[in-house]
Amino acid sequence: MIAYKICLLPGDGIGPEIIAEGVKVLDAVGAKHGLTFAYTEALIGGAAIDACGEALPASILEMAKAADAVLLAAVGGPKWDTTDPDKPRPEQGLLGIRKGLQLYTNLRPVQIFDALSGASTLKPEVIEGVDLMMVRELTGGVYFGRRERFYDEAGAGVDGTPGQRAYDTMEYREYEIDRIARQAFEAARKRRGKVTSVDKANVLESSRLWREVVHRIHEEDYPDVELEDILVDNCAMQLITRPADFDVLVTENMFGDILSDEAAQITGSLGMLASASLGDGTALYEPSHGSAPDIAGQGIANPLAQILSVEMMLRYSFNAQEAADDVRRAVTAVLDAGWRTGDIADGATPKEKVVDTSRMGDLVVDHL
Ligand code: IPM
Ligand code: MG
Repeated sequence: MIAYKICLLPGDGIGPEIIAEGVKVLDAVGAKHGLTFAYTEALIGGAAIDACGEALPASILEMAKAADAVLLAAVGGPKWDTTDPDKPRPEQGLLGIRKGLQLYTNLRPVQIFDALSGASTLKPEVIEGVDLMMVRELTGGVYFGRRERFYDEAGAGVDGTPGQRAYDTMEYREYEIDRIARQAFEAARKRRGKVTSVDKANVLESSRLWREVVHRIHEEDYPDVELEDILVDNCAMQLITRPADFDVLVTENMFGDILSDEAAQITGSLGMLASASLGDGTALYEPSHGSAPDIAGQGIANPLAQILSVEMMLRYSFNAQEAADDVRRAVTAVLDAGWRTGDIADGATPKEKVVDTSRMGDLVVDHL
């Protein structure tokens, strides 16, 4: 028996409901493959703000570092929305743990489950064969650059009148681009051998450095991988016109945030997409979707993205490929058998096949 320590961070909204299904699946697949999991749990995001006034209490980071992997659900909600820079925000919990664990690589795979191919708003012939990996830089760029909001006595208004000013800075150091580029090339070698690097090198200095470094790493160490550059605005367009042409996309933090929501929507079901955030130590796994406060507490949320983030955990943190394959097969089988949560049901889904959060988790466990 191999025992792993998992740090659970349910967060806000539907978080506690879906993470329970992730744990259910982890325990079931572990029992089958000789892995045991011991859990610690902590509050993060809005729940932590309510309990102790900050989104990422210092103890969480210690707990996360001591664990073999972190399973997070989602943070945020209208209750904590504010533009006041002095008030805590739930997102600080997520950004803080990413930075604190140095999780610089964010992998967001986008694949179509055949049973759900009708869910996309794009034409079937456009989405056929879509299988791409978004590699998003996660601890740099404008998310973590110098920023300030201040009252300017003479320069905020057109006519030099006083008023408020604010700026954020998109900054990259060479080593930050170097290491994320390597992750993308490595991922491509295990896939179809192609990397598309996304930047805005026609305008931004940080993007020109990005492009130079990516090409240097390519020439020096990965000449066998195909590399293309694409400007971010063009990429946004190509993603919905020819999504199947992409294999690995690599990009800086904020471009990756925006493009990964777009890419997720190619499948028509954001509730299906998982992500892995990797660094040099403990890794973190979470669904790509948010905390869905509108349906929180009703037990109807789709737990599959959380369950698929368990699949990624097995793959990337524990190198348990067979267990990971089992989870994916079980999810596929449940969908093929016609089971749906409300968000992925459509007019053709019979009422008795629409199930709640907990039943969906049970079905996956049954198939395991
Ligand atoms: C994501 C989310 C986060 C991000 C938010 C919640 C801070 O949108 O993981 O994509 O912007 O990175
Ligand atoms: Mg996002």
